[in-house]
Amino acid sequence: MQIVSSIRELRDVLRGRPAPAFVPTMGNLHAGHLSLVESARQRGVPVVTSIFVNRLQFAPNEDFDRYPRTLERDLGALRDAGCDIAFTPPETELYPQPQAYRVHPPAGLAEVLEGRFRPGFFTGVCTVVLKLFNAVQPGVAIFGKKDYQQWLLIRGMVAQLDLPIDIVGAPTVRDADGLALSSRNGYLDEAQRREAPRLHAELARVAAELATAGADHAALEAGAVQALRERGWQPDYVAIRRSADLGPPAAGDRLVVLGAARLGATRLIDNVEI
Ligand code: PAF
Repeated sequence: MQIVSSIRELRDVLRGRPAPAFVPTMGNLHAGHLSLVESARQRGVPVVTSIFVNRLQFAPNEDFDRYPRTLERDLGALRDAGCDIAFTPPETELYPQPQAYRVHPPAGLAEVLEGRFRPGFFTGVCTVVLKLFNAVQPGVAIFGKKDYQQWLLIRGMVAQLDLPIDIVGAPTVRDADGLALSSRNGYLDEAQRREAPRLHAELARVAAELATAGADHAALEAGAVQALRERGWQPDYVAIRRSADLGPPAAGDRLVVLGAARLGATRLIDNVEI
């Protein structure tokens, strides 16, 4: 595996090779990330994984400074997973100057759910992902569907900006008890870790109840929020949405149930597609 930290070096090692399959990450890799690398490997082209903790997508009150940085371990995991190129730019490479030009995704998709509770988050995500796409010039890029709204926004950005990149959404990888793998799970203490699968369990319960004729969406959402609150969570939202664009669902639409809630100081998100 080659490890490169500048865009120039990355272009040099990719010159003359087929457009790579790309997995963007913020590091602290777990089995969920490695499943994306495995999916990239199946494309038969060079696999590039980036590791970059993107300051632009963290609000001042969020965990940018304490976000886990485990570069040596991550590089070992990528090597074992068969990644060809690890792209590990320092901040000065991607942001040599303050990033004044930014991608502002449409409010209808970017300022609801996660965007409502994390203002500016998706501007930060889309901006860095566009920069990474320009650096890597992939033919395909793979994103985990745990971050369902992020995946939809990147897909929309690529479509509307005519980028020749196929965006693939990969299924969420879970621990045996249902907890979606996330770098932020590492913040949980033992008792919180035992409680954490409850978020997925509540979303799955809502999803199951949606199968009942005449299911009352607002009551199901409020019931899940209440159930989480009673167990000590601070829920931001539980929402039943149209899976295509997270709009309010109409009869016959395919649905997704999304949720975000804080357990102590740790904010977890998850979703269940129906
Ligand atoms: O999902 C993530 O880890 C990040 O939002 C991403 C896509 C790597 C952009 O920083």
